[in-house]
Amino acid sequence: MDKRLDGQTAIVTGAARGIGRAIVRELAATGANVVINYVTSADAARELAKEVEELGPKALIVQADVSSYEQAGELARRTIQTFGQIDILVNNAGITRDKTLKNMSLEQWDEVVHVNLDSLFNCTRQVLPCMLERQSGKIVNISSFVGQGGNVGQANYATTKAGVIGFTKSVALEVSHYGITVNAICPGFTETDMLQSVPAEIRQRLLEKIPLGRFAQPEEVAACVRYIVTEGDYITAQTIGINGGVYI
Ligand code: NAI
Repeated sequence: MDKRLDGQTAIVTGAARGIGRAIVRELAATGANVVINYVTSADAARELAKEVEELGPKALIVQADVSSYEQAGELARRTIQTFGQIDILVNNAGITRDKTLKNMSLEQWDEVVHVNLDSLFNCTRQVLPCMLERQSGKIVNISSFVGQGGNVGQANYATTKAGVIGFTKSVALEVSHYGITVNAICPGFTETDMLQSVPAEIRQRLLEKIPLGRFAQPEEVAACVRYIVTEGDYITAQTIGINGGVYI
């Protein structure tokens, strides 16, 4: 029988759309109460919360810019206030600011590093005491195949996604003896707003490079998150690719 998450609490950052939204739906369908973190998409977050509650579990919406340490702390505090525990953290929030390095501004570099990496530290650091105290927890970090293979126009993004892998492996080693696992998922090109922002002719060229001949669906990434948090008690410090066979 498939394992369930009834009574558990999951925080998903950047959850109002794309891969984050699919993860929320999947975890809620598996029984978890879900904290939907968003930064700008309030309406989408409310709609998603409604969907979660129609499935049975409870949803808490928390607006927080997770690149801020204080706001990430507030996210953890409000979760504990509402549900009393945090079992699962999915660090999903991320941005791109694509430019080849010769055209990249310091601001574009800083912004991507700030959001993609600081949020990882902020949320994990703020949630960890609760997991350490309970001697259990599952942390899943959304990296990217671009962090493994690099990509033209994404030196800033690739650097942060490679950083996610280093962070994952290091923290996994630090917390494994407290019953906490930490893993990274590296999706390939996935059909979300992030991919829609890539010009159509470049998308077509990318598609031609994918051995399985199609982009990933957000639900395919979400299914992997569910597997890790339900079946993955012996999976930690791993980097799991869902990329259709492509490494660029
Ligand atoms: P998306 O752009 O549709 O969603 C990203 C979400 O993060 C948005 O809801 C956005 O508002 C939120 N966010 C951004 N900055 C935030 C902040 N400071 N605080 C809180 N939330 C914030 O993108 P998508 O595709 O759903 O991406 C989700 C994750 O998957 C990202 O980490 C991305 O790097 C990663 N990824 C995406 C791939 C793709 O092809 N779409 C491929 C590989 C990885």
